[in-house]
Amino acid sequence: MKSEQLYTRAKKVMPGGVNSPVRFYDPYPFFATSARGSRITTADHKTYLDFCMGYGAMILGHGYPSVIEAAKSQLENGTLFCVPTEREIKLAEMINKVVPSAEMTRLVNTGSEATMHAIRLARAFTKRKDVVKFAGGYHGAHDYVLAKAGSGAASLPACEGVLEEAAAHTHVVPYNDPASLEREIEKNKSSTACVIIEPVLANIGLVAPEKGYLNEVRKITEQNDVLLIFDEVVTGFRLALGGAAEFFGIKPDLSTFAKAIGNGFPIAAITGRREVMQQLAPAGNVYQASTFAGNPVSVAAATAALGTLVEGKNAIYPQIARMCDNIVDGIKDMLSAAKLECAVNSIGSMFQVFFTPEKVKDEASARKSDAANFRRLFDELIKRDIFIPPSQFETCFVSYAHNEDDADKTIEAYGEAFRRIKK
Ligand SMILES: Cc1ncc(COP(=O)(O)O)c(C=O)c1O
Repeated sequence: MKSEQLYTRAKKVMPGGVNSPVRFYDPYPFFATSARGSRITTADHKTYLDFCMGYGAMILGHGYPSVIEAAKSQLENGTLFCVPTEREIKLAEMINKVVPSAEMTRLVNTGSEATMHAIRLARAFTKRKDVVKFAGGYHGAHDYVLAKAGSGAASLPACEGVLEEAAAHTHVVPYNDPASLEREIEKNKSSTACVIIEPVLANIGLVAPEKGYLNEVRKITEQNDVLLIFDEVVTGFRLALGGAAEFFGIKPDLSTFAKAIGNGFPIAAITGRREVMQQLAPAGNVYQASTFAGNPVSVAAATAALGTLVEGKNAIYPQIARMCDNIVDGIKDMLSAAKLECAVNSIGSMFQVFFTPEKVKDEASARKSDAANFRRLFDELIKRDIFIPPSQFETCFVSYAHNEDDADKTIEAYGEAFRRIKK
């Protein structure tokens, strides 16, 4: 097996053989060579139907032609200028137009960078230090946000090396529980700068907000003059063109984006209220900077991706949501047929199965899922050429490239997997 050989080589030169922890699974991950549409191909010449989709980045599918074309034509004209370009203005104008709460935009490279600087900005604006986050919420790999974090961090007891002094300013409350948030802010009213939330938790499996919950979060933060940061790295440009802010009709003070904005190119953004955003240097005194910010290739790709999403809004969003609903309905039928009681959570184009009969509404209930059964699900699916993220604490993503045949094949594979698990 080529992937096995590659992994043996990789382990010698890269910690754990991978460049991001969730990419590893026992005994070794497959190594990819190419991807097109809804399919990813491996070094072992196998092709899988992909529901990882770059952890949500590939909303239009792998290798979407207009995005690739835009990037290619930029390659001919230069790959890094480190001076401003007109296209950056165009992209910021597009983002500000479609994201309900975006009055200004700063482009960065990754989601982690976006949340780190959004939090610094909130601290500077409010002149307060504390941050409230939610158990199971993942906002990147930096010191401010690793407490009780989801994604790969959910599998570590605690992250060593995080500054205790920084972590002490991060308070964690349960998701979908407005009373806990209210109590936390009440307790630390004079020191709380911001609340950062994934409007839909997508890094502890998938957990949607209960009806009215995000309105409560907005009300509590507003009443206490605490800034609300929507971390829309997953939901942005996916749940709706204007992300969760549009989908739920809520205006946060700041928002962070990555993933779908570039359909696979490294680009991210911080957006928000003008008076807050204007604190960023050189307009204000909050230092945020990056050599690669506004990279011309990524900006060209993102402008094309966002352009496609804007133009195709009325076709793309209903199609990916319908496709996801079909898959989820089929999975639920297969679960009943196999007499397995599982929670299946979904919203928009995202879904996840939890091996627990209980409703999954927060981190604590997500952790009740039987991890061994999830691992069997992953193994059974991959045998049937379906690739889902290799962790219970991730989400499956449907893209514009997934079609009816893909959905049927997926439902069939889940059905066979459930029957094997039940035995
Ligand atoms: C909600 C959320 N915020 C932030 C991040 C960090 O983004 P990045 O991996 O681009 O640093 C992620 C990554 O998965 C995420 O899902």
